[in-house]
Amino acid sequence: MNAIPISKPLTGKEEKRAVADVLASGMLAQGEQVAQLEEEFAKFCGVKHAVACTSGTAALVMALNCLNIKGSVLVPSFTFIASVTSILAVNAKPVFVDIDPRTYCIDVEDAKKKLSPDVEAIMPVHLYGQCANMDEVRELAQKNELYIIEDAAQAHGAEWGGTKAGALGDAGCFSFYPTKNMTTGEGGMVTTNNDALAARLRVFRNHGQSSRYVHNSLGYNIRMTNIHAAIGVEQLKKLPKFNRARQKNAEYLDTHLDVDSPYVHHKAKHVYHQYTVRVQDREAYTRELAANGIGYGIYYPVGAHRQPAVASEAILPETDKACDEVISLPVHPGVKKEGLKRIVEAMNSLP
Ligand SMILES: Cc1ncc(COP(=O)(O)O)c(C=O)c1O
Repeated sequence: MNAIPISKPLTGKEEKRAVADVLASGMLAQGEQVAQLEEEFAKFCGVKHAVACTSGTAALVMALNCLNIKGSVLVPSFTFIASVTSILAVNAKPVFVDIDPRTYCIDVEDAKKKLSPDVEAIMPVHLYGQCANMDEVRELAQKNELYIIEDAAQAHGAEWGGTKAGALGDAGCFSFYPTKNMTTGEGGMVTTNNDALAARLRVFRNHGQSSRYVHNSLGYNIRMTNIHAAIGVEQLKKLPKFNRARQKNAEYLDTHLDVDSPYVHHKAKHVYHQYTVRVQDREAYTRELAANGIGYGIYYPVGAHRQPAVASEAILPETDKACDEVISLPVHPGVKKEGLKRIVEAMNSLP
C-alpha cells in the first residue's frame, strides 16, 4: 500500500535543467532569473510590481515594514503563526479577529467590533486557497483608511470576483515553500500596484541600499537567489495546470465524501491549497486515515492567539471550534483517482 502524502512538491526535468543552467552561468545570487520570475508573477497576478524575497514570512515583514505599520493590525488568529509574528516583528500589535465558520477566513463583522484609532491595517489571510470576502474587507478598509495586506501564502491563482489574490489590496504576500501550490524551495513575493511601495521593498530587501554603498534607510539581506527563481519560473508555467488538478480532485471529494464539502463563496475561485472538512470525532478519522497510509493535516490545532509566544486573551469561539474540528485531506496534483478512492473509502467507513 503506497502512502498518500498530505503534500508533495512536483518538480521535473524542466526545473532540473533551469537550475543546472543557473549553476553553469555562475550567476547564483539575485539577477536575471529573479527579475524574470518577478515580471511573470506580476503579470500572472495582474499587478504592476512583484518583489521577490526569501520566504512568505519575509514578504509579510517587508510589506509591513515598507508600509510603515507601527500601530495595530486586524488579523485572524486561525492562520499559520507567521501572519502574526510578522506583525510582532515590526513592533506593531496584532488585534485578533474571529473567522467566518464557513470559509475559515476573517469575519469582517467581528473586525468592525475591534476597530480603534490605533488600527492601521487589516491582514486578510486567504486560508486553504480561498480568498477572504474582499468586498467586505475593502469596504471596511476604505471607510477607516486602513492598509490591506493580503496574506496570500496559500492562494496562488485564487480569485475574488475575477481579480487574483495579490491584486486585491495594497500589498499581497506569497510563500513558495514546497507544500504550496507552486514552489521555489524556499521563497516569497510581495505584489503591489503602488510604485513607491515597490521601490521601498526593493531597497529594503537589499540592505536599505538606494545606490552603491548609500544606505538612507534600514534594510536586510532578504534577496532570492537565481537558483530558487529558476525553479519558480518553471513552476509558474505549471501553476494553472496544478490548480486545475487540485480543483478536479476537490470536485471528486465533494461528490463522494459523506462529510460536508468545503463551502465556496460564489465570488471566489478556490485553488484548494488544502481540502479541509470538519468532523466531530477527529481522532477516529485520523486513526482511520493513518491506518490506510493516508496523510492528513490539522491546520491549525491551536489559534495563534493561544500560542505561548503570543499569549493574547482574545475570545474567538469560531477559531477555537475550527481548531478542534478541521482536518485536511490530500488534494494535490500528485493524488490520482486510485488515491482519491482510498481517501473516500477510509473517510466514509466512519459513521
Ligand atoms: C498563511 C501563511 N502565512 C505565511 C506563511 C509563511 O510562509 P513561509 O513559510 O514561506 O515563510 C505561510 C506558510 O506556511 C502560511 O501558510
